[in-house]
Amino acid sequence: MRMTVRRLTRAATAGLVAAAALTAAAHSAEAADTLGSAAAGQGRYFGTAVAANHLGEADYAATLDREFSSVTPENEMKWDATEPSRGTFTFGSADRIVDHAQGQGMDVRGHTLVWHSQLPSWVGSLGASDLRTAMNDHINGLMGHYKGEIHSWDVVNEAFQDGGSGARRSSPFQDKLGNGFIEEAFRTARAADPAAKLCYNDYNTDGVNAKSNAVYDMVEDFKSRGVPIDCVGFQSHFNSNSPVPSDYRQNLQRFADLGVDVQITELDIEGSGSAQAADYTKVVEACLAVSRCTGMTVWGVTDKYSWRSGGTPLLFDGNYQEKPAYDAVLSALGGSGDPGDPGDGTLTCTATYTRTADWSSGYNGQVTITAGGEPISSWTATVTLPAQQSVSSLWNGTPTRSGNVMTVRPSWNGTLAAGASTSFGFTVAKNGSDAAPAVGTCTAS
Ligand code: XIL
Repeated sequence: MRMTVRRLTRAATAGLVAAAALTAAAHSAEAADTLGSAAAGQGRYFGTAVAANHLGEADYAATLDREFSSVTPENEMKWDATEPSRGTFTFGSADRIVDHAQGQGMDVRGHTLVWHSQLPSWVGSLGASDLRTAMNDHINGLMGHYKGEIHSWDVVNEAFQDGGSGARRSSPFQDKLGNGFIEEAFRTARAADPAAKLCYNDYNTDGVNAKSNAVYDMVEDFKSRGVPIDCVGFQSHFNSNSPVPSDYRQNLQRFADLGVDVQITELDIEGSGSAQAADYTKVVEACLAVSRCTGMTVWGVTDKYSWRSGGTPLLFDGNYQEKPAYDAVLSALGGSGDPGDPGDGTLTCTATYTRTADWSSGYNGQVTITAGGEPISSWTATVTLPAQQSVSSLWNGTPTRSGNVMTVRPSWNGTLAAGASTSFGFTVAKNGSDAAPAVGTCTAS
């Protein structure tokens, strides 16, 4: 019954998918590249995790639809969301995401079938033989519902322990069914939807280490015995405690050499500015250097909804503005930034203004200059002050004044990497006017 409804929905959206694809093609011919279109130029997808409850937010949906070519439901396909009590499947939220994605011609990654976390308590209370049945029923229930609609499924997630042992993590599945549960899950999954790629997904496996070695050995064993596995997902949640490993590319390559695709499945990197941008560049370059790295997914659209929002780890800030990390990723994908940055070596920059301090008779202003998709060696920005106001000092820039227009060039800070930022600041006497200055177009050379 549910499958029938699902299939009708899918058939009804097929026309829309075709229309959306045409619109996208027409759009890209005249406008700037997006993450999805630039990645497509490299034969890759560029995806994001999506939460169903944000799809109604206009800026969220607009950013998602413009930039991404693949989605992963962030929580909506997990066991607690889809089978909260045994045999009762609830697909409402996941269906909303899948329908939205199909309407935009995006791929869907299925996440995740068998995982120790976000697992309803009824699963943990089953005895071994019942648990085996429940696991297979769950796989069949989800994969059956979305049969033919999922690009890749994370069949098993996070089955290995952290630390140096390379051991399996304790879970109801591991503890009651033993190591064989992973193989069984993959065999059940292949039969349930032969069109979907079947992935093993984990974290802290991004570089060569004891944990990734253990996963590597399992994949090697599966390939040698014909256990169906098509891909390995590398979550790639990075921060200062867990930085982008220097052997990332090498690690991706050794898995690819086993005869599986590799995917970056949950990428986020805590930080900001040019340091964060540089780390994102490393990740994208590593994937592009491995021909079987078929795509990348960032773990959310905007910093404000990130599961690690305090670390601002994503490509769009809380106001859906492109961060330096966005420009860096787009540039690494061979794309070009805004419509004024045609990606042909033209040098561009943007200037944004903020008031950083305020008192009755004056204020401090700051203008942040961000290079576009190419490195630049100099920039020029204009700041037009309200007639009554006057600038008493300016730092980290060299001003020339003409009436109330200030043209500012670098002092020491002209050289910027692609996507990198610098700023200059100034103190203004209000002389009775509290209005904001106007910042003109940034030019780069
Ligand atoms: C996270 C989600 O982002 C959060 O909203 C949720 O509260 C917990 O799970 N590894 C995974 C993802 O495979 O499913 C996790 O997602 C992040 C870590």
